[in-house]
Amino acid sequence: MNRNDFDMLNSGLIYFDNGATTLKPKCVVNEVVDYYTKYTANAHRGDYDISAIVDTKYEAVRDKVKKFINADRRDEIIYTKGSTESINTIVFGYMMNNLTSGDEILITKSEHASNVLPWLELAKRKGVVVNFIPLNSKHEVTLDNINSVITKNTKVISLAHVTNVIGDIRPIEEIGKVCKEKDIILVVDAAQSIGHMPIDVNKYNISFLTFSAHKMLGPTGIGVLYGRYELLNKLTPLEYGGGMNTYFESNGELEYKPLPERLEAGTQNIAGVLGLGAAIDYLENIGLENIHKYELELKKYAIEKLKSVPNIKIYNENSQSGVVIFNIDKIFSQDVAVFLNHFGICVRAGNHCAKIVKDEINVTNTCRASFYLYNTKEEIDKLVEALNNQDKIFEIIL
Ligand code: ALA
Repeated sequence: MNRNDFDMLNSGLIYFDNGATTLKPKCVVNEVVDYYTKYTANAHRGDYDISAIVDTKYEAVRDKVKKFINADRRDEIIYTKGSTESINTIVFGYMMNNLTSGDEILITKSEHASNVLPWLELAKRKGVVVNFIPLNSKHEVTLDNINSVITKNTKVISLAHVTNVIGDIRPIEEIGKVCKEKDIILVVDAAQSIGHMPIDVNKYNISFLTFSAHKMLGPTGIGVLYGRYELLNKLTPLEYGGGMNTYFESNGELEYKPLPERLEAGTQNIAGVLGLGAAIDYLENIGLENIHKYELELKKYAIEKLKSVPNIKIYNENSQSGVVIFNIDKIFSQDVAVFLNHFGICVRAGNHCAKIVKDEINVTNTCRASFYLYNTKEEIDKLVEALNNQDKIFEIIL
């Protein structure tokens, strides 16, 4: 993988916080800069050359996303601010109008806040019931565990494809089969898996899929809501305004546009969309399978090396993605992160916005190193070397 594509690495920075956001390759930055320096124009509103360039590029990215996740139709792809907005749109635009009091939603305690709080809020407003799928001893979702909590009232299962703390990969294809058989809507939060491994909404029978571009080499402030056409077409917009209507009159007569425009009111993040397109090209060029394989190799290497660090506890040795969470005995995780920063190493510390996973792993805060395609074994060696200097931690950080 070509580290020269990432200017942020030129300083020698060791960036292990890819679960939070990823670095951007030159091609993504250039695509955004080109929009701002060569053809700045709104999309779908102009009758001049540069607006035609923007329209063509903007819609071409929709086709790229469709192909990237293997959707059936281009109008199943809606641009949003990111995964959080996508999930909120599903919950308050679709579920709010199509579920009734007593309907059950299944999630887990290892979900990110964005896949817990909208559901809890819906429960308050609508009387739906949020239940938690029990996890196995490795904190994983299994089909048996899912089947043990499905009832005749279960209407939705909403899961991260890969969790942001434990980093376990959910068996989405098998879960999709169960959902199809039992007529349950399957919502998949792909924030931590998109750009790390292939995703196929058709093969996995996914009803709604959400992701953010910034976790897959793209810009911040842009993401995707995918919905199967029959469902998405029943989703009530949360925003009304320009670009999403065909006409409106002073007497209140109006008509909204069909998908996808109906769900994209106002000027969208055009630069973000174009950057997302460049990110998809970059990732496809390397190959998602290759990226996943490489991350697993890094994780295996990291576990092997980290085990030699005195006083370390690793919590997710077995999960099959490039995420390692650990603590150093008797040292607050944030102190460890500040200490590592002294060596130019970026990790995340805390609860990682997954505030109830503590009930599963019996610890509230951890340090998380999350790897991506530009990380190397040499960088992991430097992490281990730094942690081996832990006796100097308070001398260094205080
Ligand atoms: N959800 C992001 C993370 O896990 C911010 O760090």
